[in-house]
Order: sequence, then C-alpha cells, then structure tokens
Amino acid sequence: MTEIQDPGATPEAMSVNAVGVIGAGQMGSGIAHVAATTGLSAVMIDVGQEQLDRARASIAKNMERQVRRERMSEDDMNAALERISGSLEFEALADCDLVIEAVTENETVKRGLYDRILPAMRADAILASNTSSISITRLATATDRPHRFMGMHFMNPVPVMQLVELIPGLATDDHTRAVIEGLTWRLGKTPVTSEDFPAFIVNRILVPMINEAVYTLYEGIGSVRDIDAAMRLGANHPMGPLELADFVGLDTCLAVMQVVHDGMADTKYRPCPLLVKYVEAGWLGRKSGKGFYDYSGDTPEPTR
Ligand code: CAA
Ligand code: NAD
Repeated sequence: MTEIQDPGATPEAMSVNAVGVIGAGQMGSGIAHVAATTGLSAVMIDVGQEQLDRARASIAKNMERQVRRERMSEDDMNAALERISGSLEFEALADCDLVIEAVTENETVKRGLYDRILPAMRADAILASNTSSISITRLATATDRPHRFMGMHFMNPVPVMQLVELIPGLATDDHTRAVIEGLTWRLGKTPVTSEDFPAFIVNRILVPMINEAVYTLYEGIGSVRDIDAAMRLGANHPMGPLELADFVGLDTCLAVMQVVHDGMADTKYRPCPLLVKYVEAGWLGRKSGKGFYDYSGDTPEPTR
C-alpha cells in the first residue's frame, strides 16, 4: 500500500487561521470542532439561533468526552470552545481565509447560498464544499471564483474519522489545492484525491451499498436487525448499513443516490422506494429521532 506523505507545515497549510463554516448540522459542527482544536478560529453560520445553540452543545459534549478519555485537557477544551463563535449574518465571514459550506445536500440550496456568502467573503479567500456527491465543477459555476473553489469532503463523525476526500474541479488552481491539502494534514486528517465524478470515491462505493441494504429489507430478505448484524459480524463493519444510514441521515443517503443515478444515467443506481418513503415521511434517521430505528427509548428499536 502506498503511504500518502504529510508535506508538513507548508506556507500554504499555515495560511489558514480563520475558518467560516456554513451549516451547523452534524458535519458543520464537527468541522468547527476539529478546526478549533487545531488552534484555528471558527465561525459557524446557520439559518436560526436554535441550530447554532444545538451545534455548540453538541461540540461541547463531544469535547467533554475527549477530556474524560484524557485525549484533551480541560484548559485546551475551554480554549477551543472560545475559538468557536456562531452568527446568523454572513458579514461574520469577512475575516475568514477559508469558508467551508456544509449545508443540506441540495444543489439549489447550495447555489443560492453562494450568491449570498461570496459578497461577504474576502476576494482572496477560498470557498470549499463538504458536498457528499454534487459536481464541484458545476457548483463552481455558481461562484465568482471557480479557481478558488474545491471539494473538501469530511467523514462523519468528523472528530473521529481519519479521511478527508479532496475534489478539485476543472478550474481549481494549484494554490487552492495546496492550501486545502496542507490544511487537511494540519487538522490531523489524511487526504485522498478524487476526480470530480458523481459521489467521488467513498460515497460512490458506500451509498450504493447502503441502498442495496435497504433493498434487502424492502424485498424481505432480512430484518433490520439481521441485515445490520450480518454486515457487522460478517464483514467487520463498525456499524450495520441501516444503522449507518440512520447515522448519516436518510435524506443525505437519498440525495447521494439521486446524484449518482442521474449522473451515471444507469438504472443500477436507482434509489430504493423504501428509502424514498422514509425520507418522505420525515424519518431521516438519528437527527429526526426515527429512521430504520426509533431512537426515543434507551436502546434503538427497529421501526419495521
Ligand atoms: N462525535 C465525536 N466523537 C465521537 C462520536 C461523535 N458523534 N461518536 C463517537 N465518538 C468517539 C468517541 O469519543 C471515541 O473516542 P476515543 O477513541 O477517543 O475514546 C470513539 O469515537 C469511539 O467511540 P465509541 O467507543 O463510543 O463507539 P464506537 O466504537 O461504536 O465507535 C464510531 C463509534 C466511530 C462512530 C463507529 O461506530 C464507526 O466508525 N462507525 C462508522 C462510521 C462511518 O462509516 N462513517 C462514514 C460515514 S459516510 C460519510 O461520512 C460520508 C458521507 O458523505 C455520507
Ligand atoms: P444536517 O442536516 O445535519 O445539517 C445541515 C445544516 O445546514 C442544518 O443545520 C441547516 O439548518 C443548515 N442549512 C440549510 N440551508 C442553509 C442555508 N441556506 N444557510 C445556512 N445554513 C443552512 O446535514 P449534515 O449531515 O451536516 O450534511 C451537511 C453537508 O455535509 C451535506 O452536503 C452532506 O451531504 C455533507 N456530508 C454529510 C455527511 C453525513 O454523514 N451526514 C458526511 C459527509 C458529508
């Protein structure tokens, strides 16, 4: 196996001190968490104070767990929490060297947002998207800086997962690539680079596997518990595929399948109707309290 080399503290890696994170959901809060523990300032922006408060509470809870497990001192936690702020105004991005967009996986939402954040950003600042699947080259056309736009795809849960997938678009310049790659190492993560095709590397493989697990349930081949146990115990996956789908968010899984289905124009990627039904019901997994499992009790219970 080829080891990917850490280039160290290059000037490009060290050029980022202030990060903006748009979307304070599970990914945005994880990105702000990791940025702050690396010593960067992080401003999170979302549509409401409730989302910002929830993100802050979740970051504090995850950092407290790191302190309990002696991965971080209490002083470092308090300093990191101080480096994180929240805002409802895009003007808060004025000092950011890099803005990472982590809003809902919907191209119309992301494109509409870029129109509003770019005027608030410094002309030399980089914009990155944490999209799970959408074409970076196409998203770049909705910005005023396609050369300073790139995919920076973190994995969930961000504080734990080692990988960041890097996706340059057709127009992304070498400086932007060097900054994002250097920063990835600084954050303690390992980058891999993917060409800009639907769902990149991880989700091109992982989400069709999740979709197939939903078909396995839909066709009555196994129960929720048996499908998950089969893949946990039989393939050594840390979570079963339905449990993982609930963890990622069924809306995100479906959005990724739709991008792969449309982008590859191949029926083998058709989203399972049961996945569609769950999303239509608002059963989005952990974040809405119910998906393939119900999370309202002490232990998750299958919902069918
Ligand atoms: N946030 C922060 N830290 C968390 C966490 C969270 N939500 N959940 C767990 N952790 C930390 C714990 O604090 C613990 O840290 P230490 O090792 O420092 O003590 C560590 O993770 C392990 O936690 P636990 O022992 O409590 O739990 P576990 O062993 O069951 O592991 C897990 C939890 C790491 C989430 C593991 O189940 C796992 O790896 N699951 C699969 C995750 C995965 O596949 N992610 C990729 C999803 S796809 C994606 O992200 C791309 C996309 O676009 C959809
Ligand atoms: P989430 O639903 O937890 O959070 C999305 C957040 O974006 C919400 O707080 C929402 O209020 C906010 N938002 C929506 N529109 C907004 C706007 N116009 N302005 C500001 N905020 C807005 O979703 P998530 O799981 O954090 O996913 C976010 C992004 O990260 C998506 O592109 C997703 O594909 C990607 N991603 C998700 C995972 C995962 O496992 N969930 C992993 C990697 C990447």
